[in-house]
Amino acid sequence: MCGIFGCVLKNGNAAPIIHAALKRLEYRGYDSVGEATFYDGRLYIKKDQGKIDEVHKIHNLDDLPGNLGIGHTRWATHGAPLEVNAHPHVDCSSNIAVVHNGIIENFVELKLELENLGHVFKSKTDTEVIVHLIEENLKADPSSSLADAVLKTVRRLDGSYAIAVISTKQPDKILCARNESPLVIGINENAVYCASDIPAFLPLTNRAVIVEDGELVVLSREGFKISKIADSAVVVREPELIDWAPEMAVKEGYPYFMLKEIHEQPACLRNTLRLQDHYLDLMATFLDRAREVFLVACGSSYHACLAASYIFSKLAFLATYPVIGSEFVEQHGKSVNIESTILAVSQSGETADTLASVSGARERAATVLGLTNAIGSTLTRVSRVYIGQQSGPEIGVAATKTFTSQLSVLAQLALRLAKKRGKISQDEMDFIAEKFDKLPDTVETIIQTQEEKIKRIAKKYKDAKTFFFLGRGVSAATAYEGRLKLMEIAYVPSMAFPAGESKHGPISLVEHGFPVVFICPKDGTHRTLIGNIMEMKARGASIIAVIEEGDEEIKKLAEDYVEVPKGVPEVLSPIPFIVPLQLLAYYIAIERGHNPDTPRNLAKSVTVK
Ligand code: F6R
Repeated sequence: MCGIFGCVLKNGNAAPIIHAALKRLEYRGYDSVGEATFYDGRLYIKKDQGKIDEVHKIHNLDDLPGNLGIGHTRWATHGAPLEVNAHPHVDCSSNIAVVHNGIIENFVELKLELENLGHVFKSKTDTEVIVHLIEENLKADPSSSLADAVLKTVRRLDGSYAIAVISTKQPDKILCARNESPLVIGINENAVYCASDIPAFLPLTNRAVIVEDGELVVLSREGFKISKIADSAVVVREPELIDWAPEMAVKEGYPYFMLKEIHEQPACLRNTLRLQDHYLDLMATFLDRAREVFLVACGSSYHACLAASYIFSKLAFLATYPVIGSEFVEQHGKSVNIESTILAVSQSGETADTLASVSGARERAATVLGLTNAIGSTLTRVSRVYIGQQSGPEIGVAATKTFTSQLSVLAQLALRLAKKRGKISQDEMDFIAEKFDKLPDTVETIIQTQEEKIKRIAKKYKDAKTFFFLGRGVSAATAYEGRLKLMEIAYVPSMAFPAGESKHGPISLVEHGFPVVFICPKDGTHRTLIGNIMEMKARGASIIAVIEEGDEEIKKLAEDYVEVPKGVPEVLSPIPFIVPLQLLAYYIAIERGHNPDTPRNLAKSVTVK
């Protein structure tokens, strides 16, 4: 997730407006920043790594000349957060500049093609292919307009994008296009703006037009023109009046970041399905070679590792050891060695306990692999290979979208490894791959159809003193994560454990009305889990079940149930099944009057041991 912005002003300097707008988009990314403007037929650019304030202090982002320009605040996906990878990116002759939010899936092929045509690339980003492709299209047909060249370019792009392009070819225009990444237009008497999000221009205008997928927009002093990318058909759309307060707008109308981030999960999962094959294959190769594999992480990331240990075993027949970061050195510090591999999972890439495990492992010559949401973090610097999970910044303290994205990447790795090891038939592989592609829609359906019901359940149980969260198999990890969410944001002391453990102690706590949340995918554990539900019911527990749609057997046993669409394979089930539990925790926190974004005593990134 990055933020893009552009403006064409009738009067005045664009640069300070771009700078202020990027500040308002900083929540979308903040590892590097850049601006480009036009003045007197010349392109002016400033960009660097670092947060906007830091870059502004060094370069003064406000003194670029001209009344038209574009800007970008970055959250790295392809290429480290370095000056060379910061946007805007320019073509070979520095006549065209582009800013981009999204992921170009076919950039490797396009880059090769363009390099063969003599284009010289400066960055490691996927974005740079866009600007060279526009350059190539203009070169091939010098009489074509910038809009035609951009149109030809975006028709060749696979993946997601919201782009803004400026060029000396038509220095009075900004060209924008959108596919799957957000893009909005703002308009007032003096200017027209394009941005990733409404807050960018909200202090300047409340008249906005939402650009839809597959649309191209030309911005000029006269206003904006929208057309379809597919057939250039003209689109007429009137601006809407936006009545959000600026603070609300940053959250896209959601009351809290946590709810916004829960709702972003379908989009984030789609991004995880766009990872480059090369890195997944490389990491799968390292895992395949290892004599022993430790999955090391803390908190929610540890729960992702716990789920992954089931998934690696079930798909790739690989035994892995999930270990809590703060325990790794004590537990395995002496035995880990050159033949060991540590896959460290940390959305921030800065968690001290996870990094301490990594240091301990490196001292003993083990191989370190990383999975993180923060390219450029310490974890990316100390890992032999790392994967960026591409969730965009998560602002709510409780992990939600980063957790499901971690699960998606880990499951993809397990699938690769299974293929590499010949542990999975082509049919099974195709089946899981097909279900994987549908997962973002499945999560979307859960949010759309179950949220109201979950609100009612939250109201009903808001005063409960404690909860159990139970699941079997891979759903034990879902149970642990559901419990952590409730505990950390709603402050309800709760317990989670594999459902089979109840009878070994915890069941003694259960009395009439004790709420027990069961995670019940229709997998191999379903029958036994029903037995565990019966045990709890017999002691008066109130059963809240997360079930597969149409699971009549459990519906009859549960006081309350939430449904997940049918047909999700067992190994992928933690992804959709955690979503209702995130919402349950969120709404119980709201019912109890707590701010879910900033739970007491917690920090987003825990950099102390
Ligand atoms: C819980 C939560 C924390 C983090 C943990 C690890 O909602 O967010 O438990 O998961 O602090 O953080 P990372 O993934 O940054 O290493």
